[in-house]
Amino acid sequence: MMIKEESAPIGVFDSGIGGLTVAQAIRQLLPHENMIYFGDTAHLPYGDKSEAAIQAYSIKIADVLLRKGCKVIVIACNSASSAAYELLKEYVRKDAYILNVIDPMVALITHHYAGKNVGLIGTKRTVQSGIYANKITEGNQNISLQSLATPLLAPMIEEGFFNNQISHEIIAQYLEDPILKDIDALVLACTHYPLIKKEINSFYNGRVDVLDSSIVVAESLQNYLIENDLLNRTGQPKHHFFVSDYTEAFEASTGLFFQEKVTLERHPLWN
Ligand code: DGL
Repeated sequence: MMIKEESAPIGVFDSGIGGLTVAQAIRQLLPHENMIYFGDTAHLPYGDKSEAAIQAYSIKIADVLLRKGCKVIVIACNSASSAAYELLKEYVRKDAYILNVIDPMVALITHHYAGKNVGLIGTKRTVQSGIYANKITEGNQNISLQSLATPLLAPMIEEGFFNNQISHEIIAQYLEDPILKDIDALVLACTHYPLIKKEINSFYNGRVDVLDSSIVVAESLQNYLIENDLLNRTGQPKHHFFVSDYTEAFEASTGLFFQEKVTLERHPLWN
């Protein structure tokens, strides 16, 4: 049975704390929603894992979020969205609505970039899956998508390396790749990348639209909640943050992603 209470929490998950950029956008747009965040820090990065491994982790996390009564589950990770969305949708079908970070971005691109060249950067898993290219072609055949795997960026950001000389050089090396030549827009297809959006914008100096999915995902969630009478309109929200492996370093970094340092609770995926 689908949960129909407005006060039920929104579940949000990622391989680690990068998905907090999506949680932050949800908190901004939907300030009364209760939220349960799960970062699978014991298994990050997902970007280098097989599809089967990510599917197994995602099912386990969905179980945790369903047991906590979530009305919606947001997959706040491109790698997990590309590897496990279809499976999770089937798995949680009657118990919760499931939202990924790819479809709202694909909708934005197909509406606004017809006839344009669009670039994309993301993890190896996301790029190798070809999911953005397939979905964009389904929506509009007149858009060319050039994708580049940028596997150093997520660990670099997790280590707090951004807005400095090292991050500038790594970002520039990637963005100078001929694959991304002559693009009109660049999709940040990893939920860690909003933290380097400013650096990417300054690399392009206004020549390229830099698109991150956190706001469009929050808007898509808002639409679903309104259409289904599930929007929580009042009250002080409660937020809980779980990780499958706790370290002080993860906790210290939460402030960068959520714009406020939060307390992480350990919740192992396998007991
Ligand atoms: N946040 C993940 C994503 O959006 C990337 C990090 C990882 O590789 O686990 O793909």
